Amino acid sequence: MKTALVTGANRGLGFEISKQLGSNGFHIVAACRTLAKAKETVSALAAHGVEASPLEMDVSQTNSIQAAFKMLSAKYQQLDALVNNAGVLLDFGTPASELSLDNLRESFETNFFGAFATIQTFLPMLKKAPAARIVNMSSDLGSVAAMTDHHSEQFAVVAPGYRASKCALNTLTIQFANELANTNIKVNSASPGLARTDMGGENAPFSVEQGAAPALWLATLGDDGPTGGFFSQTLGGKKHAW
Ligand SMILES: NC(=O)c1ccc[n+]([C@@H]2O[C@H](COP(=O)([O-])OP(=O)(O)OC[C@H]3O[C@@H](n4cnc5c(N)ncnc54)[C@H](OP(=O)(O)O)[C@@H]3O)[C@@H](O)[C@H]2O)c1
Repeated sequence: MKTALVTGANRGLGFEISKQLGSNGFHIVAACRTLAKAKETVSALAAHGVEASPLEMDVSQTNSIQAAFKMLSAKYQQLDALVNNAGVLLDFGTPASELSLDNLRESFETNFFGAFATIQTFLPMLKKAPAARIVNMSSDLGSVAAMTDHHSEQFAVVAPGYRASKCALNTLTIQFANELANTNIKVNSASPGLARTDMGGENAPFSVEQGAAPALWLATLGDDGPTGGFFSQTLGGKKHAW
């Protein structure tokens, strides 16, 4: 049975991705900020017939990531998929001139440094799988093309720290994909579009099922699938401009 580690698995898109990957035959490692949340998630997934294990992992804490790796590598040989889903949106509507450095750093701790440390830490387990997939949950808001195109729906969206952190996350996708190009590991960015979660809000156009679709596809890519790409639900799962 293949194993997938999903960060921020307890709610929103992380839960939906876990549910759907589980229904596709993966054993889910539900990584959550606290063990209590992880255990609750495992029970909620079991109610959908999904086999999962709880893992405490706060991606903004390097010690927590390392402890999680120690736990997991003692239990499992390999990891077939890693979905870096955990994310925060802390500065919606705050112009860059008013954004505090602390707020900006907090966004980066989870959305960028957290994803970086998780990939780097779990890479030895991903390398042991015959065909591993890394998916970074990005956003259309991370696209430089969208930020600079007056006609883009995202052009005027104000969330400087969030946008910068997702843009940086996309850079990470490219850097790891290039480094791992001749290995068994594919690395891609997925954008869910605007989906109905606590973050996306109840009026978002996409359901969680729709928002989860690009990540699900990228986590289960065949050997002929892409690496180093950025795919968005807003474009029906097609390639998004960086
Ligand atoms: N929804 C959208 O429209 C949308 C659009 C573009 C991109 N995205 C991206 O998609 C991903 C999931 O978003 P969502 O809409 O499902 O958001 P959400 O409903 O706010 O859920 C965020 C998840 O991330 C977890 N998380 C946050 N910080 C964490 C940390 N330090 N360590 C571990 N887990 C942490 C949360 O855990 P707690 O419950 O403990 O807080 C929660 O499980 C995010 O990366 C987001 O940026 C979402």
